[in-house]
Amino acid sequence: MFGLRSLTFTEEPPTPHHCCTTGSEYPTMNTTTLTQESAGSSLRTPMRVHRLTAALGAEVTGVDLGEVSRSDELFAELKALLLEHKVLFFRDQDITRAEHVALAERFGPLEDHPVAGSDPDHPGLVRIYKDRDNRPDDFENAFHCDATWRDAPPMGSVLRCVETPAVGGDTLWVNMALAYERLPEHVKEQIAGLRARHSIEATFGARMPVQQRLALKERFPDAEHPVVRTHPETGEKVLFVNAFTTHFTNFHTVENVRFGFDYAPGASELLNYLIRQAAVPEYQVRWRWTRNSFAIWDNRNTQHYAVQDYWPDVRKMERAGIVGEPTF
Ligand SMILES: [Fe+2]
Repeated sequence: MFGLRSLTFTEEPPTPHHCCTTGSEYPTMNTTTLTQESAGSSLRTPMRVHRLTAALGAEVTGVDLGEVSRSDELFAELKALLLEHKVLFFRDQDITRAEHVALAERFGPLEDHPVAGSDPDHPGLVRIYKDRDNRPDDFENAFHCDATWRDAPPMGSVLRCVETPAVGGDTLWVNMALAYERLPEHVKEQIAGLRARHSIEATFGARMPVQQRLALKERFPDAEHPVVRTHPETGEKVLFVNAFTTHFTNFHTVENVRFGFDYAPGASELLNYLIRQAAVPEYQVRWRWTRNSFAIWDNRNTQHYAVQDYWPDVRKMERAGIVGEPTF
């Protein structure tokens, strides 16, 4: 999730029968066929949608993402699927980097990452390359939303696998609207008005020399977000704390605190409980990467976790992050 050179971005894993197969192996009851008359050719293979778990995620087949990058109507179809499934997966998409960027820009402007580097010829396309000489950092393997240390966290991302380990390097995504929905009612009541701080300083900045860390914080002051966010397009309520979250900012009130020393244990225990909800398997989907597979996710109602079990094998990913809007 965080990382000095790379990360903020990615992922998902386990359930072999739905991560590594072709559409034909999915149960019919989970498959939806969409027509693509809008694409201008009746000869196109129909777009097929295969749900991967009961919680979230669908693999889409019969579509070329390069074509989607050029078609208003195909993009509208894909956007509707994203809002429905929260993360979409595609295999064998041998498209260009320019098409990758053009597809992501259909959602909105792209943003660079202040710590990870971008492709010099394609600004906004962040490289997440790991190999024998570039060991994975201990940052992506925490459940997180990307860049919630921004006042306006990213709307989502389009991530391509350029090179994958022989085995391992999967990514998990989590449905955080479902995680909120399943909370006990008394917890929902307690957290209804709470707000929390999200920090790049305490994550990406933690390993930096102090002056460099303070400069990073000056550039990106800690953001504050509601603990329960409303999705701006679907209206869903979303549990919105993650590995970038450091503390509640308005917990210390007479409703929550009898004595001053209640603050630390009361607040941190509740925050840790909420953050742990992302680790519940019933809210997750896990994706096994292959070369030129893609994931497109909604960063407003999901979290993700990149499994770092493959070093010293090679894993290379390229990610286009899309600018989001302030939370409410
Ligand atoms: Fe991430």
